[in-house]
Amino acid sequence: MSRKKIGVIGGGFVGSTTAQRIAEKELGDVVLVDIVEGMPQGKALDIFEAGPVYGYDSVVTGANDYAPLAGADCVVITAGMPRKPGMDRSDLLKVNGEIMRSVVSGIMEVAPEAFLVVVSNPLDVMCFVAHEISGLPRNKVIGMAGVLDTARYRSFIGEALDVSVKDVQAMVLGGHGDSMVPLASTASVSGIPITQLLSKEEIDKLIDRTRHGGAEIVNLLKTGSAYYAPSASAVAMVESIVRDQRRILPCCTRLDGEYGIDATWVGVPVVLGANGVERIIELELDPSDAEALKTSASAVKSGQDEVAGMLSIT
Ligand code: LAC
Repeated sequence: MSRKKIGVIGGGFVGSTTAQRIAEKELGDVVLVDIVEGMPQGKALDIFEAGPVYGYDSVVTGANDYAPLAGADCVVITAGMPRKPGMDRSDLLKVNGEIMRSVVSGIMEVAPEAFLVVVSNPLDVMCFVAHEISGLPRNKVIGMAGVLDTARYRSFIGEALDVSVKDVQAMVLGGHGDSMVPLASTASVSGIPITQLLSKEEIDKLIDRTRHGGAEIVNLLKTGSAYYAPSASAVAMVESIVRDQRRILPCCTRLDGEYGIDATWVGVPVVLGANGVERIIELELDPSDAEALKTSASAVKSGQDEVAGMLSIT
Protein backbone atom coordinates (compact mmCIF):
# COMPACT_ATOMS: atom_id res chain seq x y z
CA MET A 1 0.00 0.00 0.00
CA SER A 2 1.39 3.33 -0.94
CA ARG A 3 1.66 6.01 1.66
CA LYS A 4 -1.06 8.52 2.20
CA LYS A 5 -0.41 12.12 1.28
CA ILE A 6 -1.78 14.60 3.78
CA GLY A 7 -1.80 18.33 3.16
CA VAL A 8 -1.83 21.00 5.82
CA ILE A 9 -2.76 24.52 4.73
CA GLY A 10 -1.39 27.29 6.92
CA GLY A 11 2.02 27.09 8.55
CA GLY A 12 1.11 28.92 11.75
CA PHE A 13 1.09 27.26 15.15
CA VAL A 14 -2.02 25.13 14.45
CA GLY A 15 -0.77 24.05 11.02
CA SER A 16 2.80 23.30 12.02
CA THR A 17 1.83 21.35 15.15
CA THR A 18 -0.70 19.45 13.02
CA ALA A 19 2.06 18.56 10.54
CA GLN A 20 4.30 17.48 13.42
CA ARG A 21 1.65 15.26 15.00
CA ILE A 22 0.78 13.64 11.64
CA ALA A 23 4.46 12.83 11.08
CA GLU A 24 4.88 11.51 14.61
CA LYS A 25 1.92 9.17 14.11
CA GLU A 26 3.18 8.21 10.61
CA LEU A 27 -0.25 8.79 9.12
CA GLY A 28 1.40 9.61 5.79
CA ASP A 29 3.73 12.04 4.09
CA VAL A 30 2.94 15.64 4.82
CA VAL A 31 2.91 18.74 2.60
CA LEU A 32 2.75 21.99 4.58
CA VAL A 33 1.55 24.94 2.51
CA ASP A 34 1.71 28.63 3.39
CA ILE A 35 2.01 31.82 1.37
CA VAL A 36 5.02 33.10 3.34
CA GLU A 37 8.13 32.30 1.33
CA GLY A 38 10.49 29.85 2.99
CA MET A 39 8.44 29.45 6.18
CA PRO A 40 6.59 26.20 5.36
CA GLN A 41 9.75 24.82 3.76
CA GLY A 42 11.79 25.64 6.86
CA LYS A 43 9.27 24.23 9.34
CA ALA A 44 8.72 21.12 7.20
CA LEU A 45 12.45 20.46 6.95
CA ASP A 46 12.79 20.89 10.70
CA ILE A 47 9.98 18.37 11.36
CA PHE A 48 11.49 15.97 8.79
CA GLU A 49 14.87 16.18 10.52
CA ALA A 50 13.29 15.17 13.86
CA GLY A 51 12.32 11.84 12.25
CA PRO A 52 15.52 9.91 12.99
CA VAL A 53 15.45 10.98 16.64
CA TYR A 54 11.75 10.46 17.22
CA GLY A 55 11.60 7.41 14.97
CA TYR A 56 9.27 8.21 12.09
CA ASP A 57 9.63 7.85 8.33
CA SER A 58 7.08 10.42 7.20
CA VAL A 59 8.48 12.75 4.58
CA VAL A 60 7.54 16.33 5.36
CA THR A 61 7.89 19.05 2.73
CA GLY A 62 6.83 22.68 2.50
CA ALA A 63 5.42 24.68 -0.39
CA ASN A 64 4.07 28.09 -1.31
CA ASP A 65 1.63 26.72 -3.89
CA TYR A 66 -0.86 23.89 -4.20
CA ALA A 67 0.86 21.81 -6.93
CA PRO A 68 2.71 19.53 -4.46
CA LEU A 69 -0.68 18.56 -2.99
CA ALA A 70 -1.52 16.70 -6.22
CA GLY A 71 -3.45 13.54 -5.38
CA ALA A 72 -3.59 14.29 -1.63
CA ASP A 73 -5.90 11.98 0.32
CA CYS A 74 -6.76 14.44 3.02
CA VAL A 75 -6.11 18.16 3.55
CA VAL A 76 -6.34 19.96 6.89
CA ILE A 77 -7.18 23.64 6.42
CA THR A 78 -5.93 25.92 9.18
CA ALA A 79 -5.39 29.05 7.09
CA GLY A 80 -6.99 32.23 8.32
CA MET A 81 -6.62 35.02 10.81
CA PRO A 82 -6.75 33.90 14.45
CA ARG A 83 -8.89 35.71 16.96
CA LYS A 84 -7.45 38.63 18.91
CA PRO A 85 -8.56 39.40 22.51
CA GLY A 86 -12.10 40.80 22.56
CA MET A 87 -12.75 39.61 19.02
CA ASP A 88 -15.67 37.31 18.34
CA ARG A 89 -15.18 34.38 15.97
CA SER A 90 -17.72 35.92 13.60
CA ASP A 91 -15.60 39.07 13.25
CA LEU A 92 -13.40 36.83 11.20
CA LEU A 93 -16.21 35.90 8.86
CA LYS A 94 -15.38 37.95 5.81
CA VAL A 95 -11.61 37.86 5.84
CA ASN A 96 -11.44 34.14 6.53
CA GLY A 97 -14.30 33.42 4.13
CA GLU A 98 -12.25 34.90 1.31
CA ILE A 99 -9.14 33.00 2.39
CA MET A 100 -11.19 29.76 2.54
CA ARG A 101 -12.57 30.33 -0.95
CA SER A 102 -9.14 30.77 -2.46
CA VAL A 103 -7.59 27.85 -0.51
CA VAL A 104 -10.35 25.38 -1.38
CA SER A 105 -10.28 26.37 -5.07
CA GLY A 106 -6.52 25.80 -5.07
CA ILE A 107 -6.79 22.38 -3.41
CA MET A 108 -9.59 21.18 -5.69
CA GLU A 109 -7.53 21.94 -8.83
CA VAL A 110 -4.91 19.37 -7.83
CA ALA A 111 -6.61 17.07 -5.31
CA PRO A 112 -10.29 16.84 -6.21
CA GLU A 113 -10.68 13.58 -4.26
CA ALA A 114 -9.29 14.88 -0.97
CA PHE A 115 -11.20 14.89 2.29
CA LEU A 116 -11.19 18.38 3.76
CA VAL A 117 -10.75 18.75 7.51
CA VAL A 118 -11.60 22.36 8.29
CA VAL A 119 -10.07 24.04 11.34
CA SER A 120 -10.26 27.77 10.47
CA ASN A 121 -12.70 30.01 12.36
CA PRO A 122 -15.54 30.77 12.50
CA LEU A 123 -15.48 27.02 12.15
CA ASP A 124 -19.02 26.04 11.24
CA VAL A 125 -19.42 28.79 8.68
CA MET A 126 -16.01 28.00 7.16
CA CYS A 127 -17.22 24.39 6.66
CA PHE A 128 -20.18 25.79 4.74
CA VAL A 129 -17.84 27.84 2.53
CA ALA A 130 -15.49 24.87 1.95
CA HIS A 131 -18.43 22.65 0.99
CA GLU A 132 -20.00 25.20 -1.35
CA ILE A 133 -16.74 26.10 -3.08
CA SER A 134 -15.43 22.53 -3.38
CA GLY A 135 -18.65 20.96 -4.65
CA LEU A 136 -17.69 17.87 -2.63
CA PRO A 137 -20.40 15.64 -1.13
CA ARG A 138 -21.13 16.45 2.52
CA ASN A 139 -19.33 13.35 3.86
CA LYS A 140 -16.00 14.69 2.54
CA VAL A 141 -15.99 18.05 4.34
CA ILE A 142 -15.60 17.72 8.11
CA GLY A 143 -15.11 20.45 10.65
CA MET A 144 -12.91 20.20 13.75
CA ALA A 145 -14.49 21.75 16.80
CA GLY A 146 -16.42 19.15 18.77
CA VAL A 147 -13.33 17.03 19.40
CA LEU A 148 -11.54 20.11 20.79
CA ASP A 149 -14.48 21.37 22.84
CA THR A 150 -15.02 17.85 24.17
CA ALA A 151 -11.33 17.53 25.02
CA ARG A 152 -11.60 20.69 27.11
CA TYR A 153 -14.78 19.45 28.80
CA ARG A 154 -13.15 16.06 29.53
CA SER A 155 -10.03 17.78 30.93
CA PHE A 156 -12.11 19.92 33.28
CA ILE A 157 -14.22 16.95 34.41
CA GLY A 158 -11.10 14.88 35.12
CA GLU A 159 -9.52 17.79 37.00
CA ALA A 160 -12.67 18.45 39.07
CA LEU A 161 -12.85 14.79 40.11
CA ASP A 162 -9.08 14.38 40.43
CA VAL A 163 -9.19 11.28 38.20
CA SER A 164 -7.53 10.26 34.95
CA VAL A 165 -8.84 12.16 31.92
CA LYS A 166 -8.44 8.90 30.00
CA ASP A 167 -11.53 7.51 31.71
CA VAL A 168 -13.67 10.57 31.04
CA GLN A 169 -16.13 10.33 28.15
CA ALA A 170 -18.25 13.27 27.04
CA MET A 171 -19.83 14.98 24.07
CA VAL A 172 -20.11 18.64 23.09
CA LEU A 173 -22.59 19.41 20.32
CA GLY A 174 -23.52 22.52 18.38
CA GLY A 175 -21.55 25.33 16.80
CA HIS A 176 -18.01 26.21 17.89
CA GLY A 177 -19.02 29.32 19.79
CA ASP A 178 -20.50 30.49 23.05
CA SER A 179 -23.73 28.67 22.18
CA MET A 180 -22.06 25.24 22.00
CA VAL A 181 -23.87 22.49 23.92
CA PRO A 182 -21.72 20.44 26.35
CA LEU A 183 -23.99 17.56 27.37
CA ALA A 184 -24.21 16.62 31.04
CA SER A 185 -26.55 13.69 30.42
CA THR A 186 -24.05 11.63 28.39
CA ALA A 187 -20.84 12.53 30.28
CA SER A 188 -19.36 9.71 32.30
CA VAL A 189 -16.23 8.44 33.99
CA SER A 190 -15.60 4.73 33.41
CA GLY A 191 -19.28 4.33 32.74
CA ILE A 192 -20.39 6.27 35.84
CA PRO A 193 -22.60 9.22 34.89
CA ILE A 194 -21.01 12.49 36.09
CA THR A 195 -24.40 13.45 37.47
CA GLN A 196 -23.70 10.85 40.20
CA LEU A 197 -20.25 12.28 40.94
CA LEU A 198 -20.73 16.05 40.77
CA SER A 199 -23.48 18.46 41.81
CA LYS A 200 -25.47 20.37 39.21
CA GLU A 201 -23.68 23.59 40.24
CA GLU A 202 -20.30 21.96 39.76
CA ILE A 203 -21.28 20.57 36.36
CA ASP A 204 -22.67 23.95 35.28
CA LYS A 205 -19.32 25.57 36.12
CA LEU A 206 -17.45 23.02 33.98
CA ILE A 207 -19.91 23.55 31.13
CA ASP A 208 -19.46 27.31 31.34
CA ARG A 209 -15.66 27.02 31.34
CA THR A 210 -15.88 24.67 28.32
CA ARG A 211 -18.02 27.16 26.40
CA HIS A 212 -15.39 29.84 26.92
CA GLY A 213 -12.39 27.50 26.63
CA GLY A 214 -11.07 29.11 23.45
CA ALA A 215 -11.36 32.63 24.85
CA GLU A 216 -9.66 31.58 28.11
CA ILE A 217 -6.55 30.72 26.12
CA VAL A 218 -6.75 33.76 23.83
CA ASN A 219 -6.89 35.97 26.93
CA LEU A 220 -3.84 34.29 28.41
CA LEU A 221 -1.77 34.27 25.23
CA LYS A 222 -2.78 37.83 24.23
CA THR A 223 -1.52 37.21 20.69
CA GLY A 224 -3.01 34.25 18.84
CA SER A 225 -5.16 31.40 20.00
CA ALA A 226 -4.84 27.79 21.11
CA TYR A 227 -2.93 25.26 19.03
CA TYR A 228 -1.81 22.20 20.99
CA ALA A 229 -5.31 20.87 21.70
CA PRO A 230 -6.71 22.04 18.33
CA SER A 231 -3.96 20.23 16.38
CA ALA A 232 -4.32 17.09 18.51
CA SER A 233 -8.05 17.15 17.76
CA ALA A 234 -7.65 17.64 14.01
CA VAL A 235 -5.11 14.81 13.86
CA ALA A 236 -7.45 12.44 15.74
CA MET A 237 -9.96 13.07 12.94
CA VAL A 238 -7.39 12.58 10.17
CA GLU A 239 -6.29 9.35 11.82
CA SER A 240 -9.85 8.02 12.07
CA ILE A 241 -10.31 8.73 8.33
CA VAL A 242 -7.00 7.47 6.90
CA ARG A 243 -6.92 4.39 9.15
CA ASP A 244 -10.67 3.77 8.80
CA GLN A 245 -11.00 3.60 12.57
CA ARG A 246 -14.71 4.42 12.51
CA ARG A 247 -14.48 6.34 15.76
CA ILE A 248 -17.57 8.16 16.96
CA LEU A 249 -16.42 11.76 17.30
CA PRO A 250 -18.32 15.02 17.54
CA CYS A 251 -17.60 16.76 14.24
CA CYS A 252 -19.07 19.65 12.32
CA THR A 253 -21.15 18.24 9.49
CA ARG A 254 -24.01 19.44 7.34
CA LEU A 255 -27.38 18.47 8.77
CA ASP A 256 -30.10 17.90 6.21
CA GLY A 257 -33.04 17.25 8.48
CA GLU A 258 -31.23 15.34 11.24
CA TYR A 259 -32.01 16.75 14.69
CA GLY A 260 -34.76 18.76 12.96
CA ILE A 261 -32.08 21.07 11.52
CA ASP A 262 -31.76 21.78 7.81
CA ALA A 263 -28.91 22.88 5.53
CA THR A 264 -26.78 23.94 8.48
CA TRP A 265 -23.27 22.99 9.61
CA VAL A 266 -23.08 22.05 13.29
CA GLY A 267 -21.30 19.63 15.57
CA VAL A 268 -22.97 16.27 16.19
CA PRO A 269 -21.60 12.78 16.79
CA VAL A 270 -20.56 11.05 13.57
CA VAL A 271 -18.83 7.82 12.64
CA LEU A 272 -15.57 8.88 10.98
CA GLY A 273 -14.01 6.36 8.62
CA ALA A 274 -12.57 5.79 5.15
CA ASN A 275 -15.52 7.62 3.60
CA GLY A 276 -15.24 10.57 5.95
CA VAL A 277 -18.59 10.99 7.67
CA GLU A 278 -19.88 7.41 7.42
CA ARG A 279 -23.05 8.29 9.28
CA ILE A 280 -24.54 10.79 11.65
CA ILE A 281 -25.65 9.54 15.05
CA GLU A 282 -28.94 11.04 16.13
CA LEU A 283 -29.05 11.14 19.92
CA GLU A 284 -32.21 11.53 21.86
CA LEU A 285 -31.54 14.76 23.71
CA ASP A 286 -33.00 16.27 26.85
CA PRO A 287 -35.51 18.94 25.75
CA SER A 288 -33.25 21.77 27.01
CA ASP A 289 -30.23 20.39 25.11
CA ALA A 290 -32.32 19.90 21.94
CA GLU A 291 -33.47 23.51 22.24
CA ALA A 292 -29.89 24.72 22.83
CA LEU A 293 -28.72 22.80 19.75
CA LYS A 294 -31.37 24.48 17.62
CA THR A 295 -30.40 27.90 18.96
CA SER A 296 -26.75 27.19 18.22
CA ALA A 297 -27.65 26.00 14.71
CA SER A 298 -29.67 29.11 13.97
CA ALA A 299 -26.68 31.28 14.96
CA VAL A 300 -24.58 29.31 12.46
CA LYS A 301 -27.28 29.60 9.79
CA SER A 302 -27.24 33.41 10.08
CA GLY A 303 -23.47 33.31 9.64
CA GLN A 304 -23.84 31.07 6.59
CA ASP A 305 -26.38 33.47 5.04
CA GLU A 306 -24.16 36.44 5.84
CA VAL A 307 -21.03 34.91 4.31
CA ALA A 308 -23.01 33.64 1.29
CA GLY A 309 -23.97 37.28 0.63
CA MET A 310 -20.43 38.56 1.19
CA LEU A 311 -18.88 35.98 -1.13
CA SER A 312 -21.80 35.83 -3.60
CA ILE A 313 -22.36 32.13 -2.96
CA THR A 314 -25.84 31.18 -4.10
C1 LAC B 1 -10.31 27.74 20.16
C2 LAC B 1 -10.24 28.60 18.94
C3 LAC B 1 -9.12 28.22 18.08
O1 LAC B 1 -11.38 27.25 20.48
O2 LAC B 1 -11.44 28.57 18.26
O3 LAC B 1 -9.26 27.58 20.79
